[in-house]
Amino acid sequence: MSETVTGTSQWQALQAHAEKIRQSHLRDLFAGDPGRGQRLTGQAADLYVDYSKNLVTDETLDLLRDLARAQDLEGRIAAMFRGDHINTSEDRAVLHTALRLPRDAQLTVDGQDVVADVHATLDRMAAFAEKVRGGEWRGATGQRITTIVNIGIGGSDLGPVMAYEALGDYRDAGITARFVSNIDPTDLAVKTQDLDPASTLFVVVSKTFGTQETLTNAREARTWLLGKLGVDDSAVAKHFVAVSTNEKRVVDFGIDPANMFGFWDWVGGRYSLPSAVGLSVMITVGPDHYRDMLAGYHAMDEHFRTAPLEQNVPATLGLLNVWYNNFLGVQTHAVLPYSQYLHRFAAYLQQLTMESLGKSVTRSGEPVQAQTGEIFWGEPGTNGQHAFYQLIHQGTKMIPADFIGFSVPNHDTAEMHDLFMSNFLAQTAALAFGRTREQVEAEGVDAAVVPHKIMPGNHPTTTILGEKLTPSTLGQLVALYEHIVFTEGAIWDINPFDQWGVELGKVMANQLAPLLTQEAAPAGDQDSSTNALIARYRAQRGR
Ligand code: F6P
Repeated sequence: MSETVTGTSQWQALQAHAEKIRQSHLRDLFAGDPGRGQRLTGQAADLYVDYSKNLVTDETLDLLRDLARAQDLEGRIAAMFRGDHINTSEDRAVLHTALRLPRDAQLTVDGQDVVADVHATLDRMAAFAEKVRGGEWRGATGQRITTIVNIGIGGSDLGPVMAYEALGDYRDAGITARFVSNIDPTDLAVKTQDLDPASTLFVVVSKTFGTQETLTNAREARTWLLGKLGVDDSAVAKHFVAVSTNEKRVVDFGIDPANMFGFWDWVGGRYSLPSAVGLSVMITVGPDHYRDMLAGYHAMDEHFRTAPLEQNVPATLGLLNVWYNNFLGVQTHAVLPYSQYLHRFAAYLQQLTMESLGKSVTRSGEPVQAQTGEIFWGEPGTNGQHAFYQLIHQGTKMIPADFIGFSVPNHDTAEMHDLFMSNFLAQTAALAFGRTREQVEAEGVDAAVVPHKIMPGNHPTTTILGEKLTPSTLGQLVALYEHIVFTEGAIWDINPFDQWGVELGKVMANQLAPLLTQEAAPAGDQDSSTNALIARYRAQRGR
């Protein structure tokens, strides 16, 4: 068996060091080190990142960087950007970073001129988006398109919907988008119930074009559209376009390949927003804003690729996640954007982080000896403050949290943004420093109530501050988290680019479907729990 990360001297040094840090408090770390709040910070592209309110010292960071070097993080970063087949279980390159390379960059991988292909697709997308935005592309009855319905799931939904919502300020063509993902028939029914089919364009997004949810929704959408318009199949060409890597299946579905936008197997679903998967975003915000988003991604990519570990922000934040997960026993990580526009950001990150890092074997197939991916969750502030922050402040669990905010508002209404951001700043200070018994007693609080009002503090947070939420800063933010995930995967020596774990459920759903619908009662050869549930379901469906 090759040496596992937990067997390295760097890992053991961190374990010993963690004993010391467990005894310290952020109050003392700040009191004993006046420069901490300026020093433990970083700049990555336009994002200022303050990680001083984490439970670390300079020594912790040095030890974590030693571990990163022992795991050859820098070599692995170079291998990804170069196009090596680092997705070993699928024998693929991992090149989402190539999707945002500028036109004059050069990258040839496995004989493919990647940059030329990426820009050819971007140009086709832009030409199509402009036609729709300008009203040149019309529906079968001659009406302009005013609504896009993106049909896709997982990476073919979460990225586009997150970015569409985030860039609400940049939609400038009077075209809105809706997103249908769930195979629960309610999703499509609710999203189409007040929709005019004559002015609707469906963008069917599926890397494989074999995903049950997406194909079922797309078929139903086609039936709905043709039925409502009372037209024949030829109308499909005006109301359906596809985004996929699988042309054959797109054609089999009935979509003209001229209306298909491709991408490549080296783009993982959860990393695919900056590919043609972002078509609905491009149509609504326009190609220029879309290209600004790609430039933002690229700026963060360049930072990650070139910054030394000491200044490398995504690497540092990834190492902090490892620190909490493996050395301080933390289970979950909150992501708290102080921007209503980022209300789908945590949902997007859940797939990015948990589908990537939910692994229990190393790249060579041996059991990982360490805890891997933490559970990511969150909601925008200040809503979360009135819901779950109590548990972070005074509960018994340690929950590191990322606070994401912007200095310049998208909507400047009186002083609302200043009030909003004072909450943003107050929360991280309250979490770090809390309120001591002495402070509570000094306020004359009744003795019986004092313990309830003590705020232990010492809760770690990272503050990510951008100037303004723009397409560029959005791209930077997403790439930041992509590279945090990469760093964690490198430390644990796992493959963050496959997702075999979701396959078994898909296969079993396909096997079970006929048992729910067939006329005769099924043989009952599943497990006893599943047999009983099937029987009850069938009875309640009158079968
Ligand atoms: O949930 C598994 C998964 O394979 C995701 O990784 C992917 O984003 C999603 O399904 C959708 O896949 P596709 O784009 O091929 O429809």
